[in-house]
Amino acid sequence: MRFQLPPLPYGFDALEPHVSAETLETHYGKHHKGYIEKTNELLEAPTAWQEDLSLEEIVKTSSGPLFNNAAQAWNHTFFWNCLAPSAGEEPPGELLDPITRDFGSFAHFRRLFSQKAADVFGSGYAWLVLERTGRLNIVSTANADTPLVGDDVPLLALDVWEHAYYLDHRNERRAFIDAFWDLVNWDFVSENFRRDSAPNFTPMMARSTNHRAPEPSPAH
Ligand SMILES: [Fe+2]
Repeated sequence: MRFQLPPLPYGFDALEPHVSAETLETHYGKHHKGYIEKTNELLEAPTAWQEDLSLEEIVKTSSGPLFNNAAQAWNHTFFWNCLAPSAGEEPPGELLDPITRDFGSFAHFRRLFSQKAADVFGSGYAWLVLERTGRLNIVSTANADTPLVGDDVPLLALDVWEHAYYLDHRNERRAFIDAFWDLVNWDFVSENFRRDSAPNFTPMMARSTNHRAPEPSPAH
């Protein structure tokens, strides 16, 4: 299977003023696209990779450059869906209740998540995850690492690689983290919580590996 850049769920300027069109054009159109192209390139190499493996299965079973690029292809698809124009506010009750139970209050959860994101050294992500115990937790991952490979269900992600904010905020990661709260797509987060498993992005990203020339049309 080969993969394509999934459609961005909104226009390039839809997240302004928090995330500029220039940042989205670069982050989605260059970085995310690049991870997908590199994944496809690595899959072209003669390896034992089966043609029918989903992107999720590749992330879970690969290592090295293929893992890095496939995981980034998946993480970015997840991240775009975590954002929406005119979003933010508070999560719906089905999510607010466990957040309040596990973090004390929504405000405290925001502070803890923001701190976790601020504390990522170098490149990585902050995640809200649902543990197998049924409790929510906030974790961070480095570089391309992703909860997809573990037992936790990823619910919400914040990409704090410099490419996510440098054009808009230079080195002020905190300003980007603060802006993030006005963009959180709680519907997507709730969907992940309800499903109790990571989303499967392969159907929207897969394209045929059939490179054969089309059948000639019948002679008239
Ligand atoms: Fe990124």
